[in-house]
Amino acid sequence: MRLDRFISNLARFNRQDARQLLASGRLRVDGQTVADGCLQVREFNRIELDDEVLQAGKPARFYLLHKPVGYVSATKHPEHPSVLDLLDVPDKHDLHLAGRLDLNTSGLLLITNDGHWSRQLTLPGSRLPKVYRVQTAQPISAEYVEVFARGLYFAYEDLTTLPAELQILGPREARLTLHEGRYHQVKRMFGHFRNQVLGLHRESIGALHLGELPSGAWRALTVQEVRQLQPGNRTVP
Ligand code: URA
Repeated sequence: MRLDRFISNLARFNRQDARQLLASGRLRVDGQTVADGCLQVREFNRIELDDEVLQAGKPARFYLLHKPVGYVSATKHPEHPSVLDLLDVPDKHDLHLAGRLDLNTSGLLLITNDGHWSRQLTLPGSRLPKVYRVQTAQPISAEYVEVFARGLYFAYEDLTTLPAELQILGPREARLTLHEGRYHQVKRMFGHFRNQVLGLHRESIGALHLGELPSGAWRALTVQEVRQLQPGNRTVP
């Protein structure tokens, strides 16, 4: 919300007080004096008036997890363990998943308490490349490469998928790069050829790779990694 709104929402100040406080140069956001009431502030910002802390600002948290098969991409589930069960951190109730993987899919999953960050990553227009390794029941032919590059029509959503790159690695194995995340997208794309996906693993999102992180393990993202995934800062090797 805007800083002037944040101030006038406090019980002791009205909108005129907010304007005066801003003009007086007594307000600081993350240590910087701010006079512009339009500045957007969030729960992660520290907001001070003189020596008084109006909002302490909670830490933003970002994790990368290697999801094993058999864990659900939901905060809780009646039958299966949740990916959050693997995370050994405080205040788990505050966390949510930035994207999902199916129960029988393994690989890279992002978890955060920053809704703005996760929305930027998961919006259909985000175009962040996601790389999957796929094992199938039937052989994969060169025709798949062309069809996936052209895009497939998904009747349910009434859309054509964005061009995707398929690299055939073996008779029944391939690496697929998507630039969007539609529901069960990989399985539906192979389903077009009536070829069942038997194994699916997400290797990377943007410049982030699982690396040597074992299945079930997690790590915090660095500040640089968090920034790098945001639109405008992306470099994908
Ligand atoms: N596509 C799928 O079909 N499943 C996943 O888990 C991810 C992408």
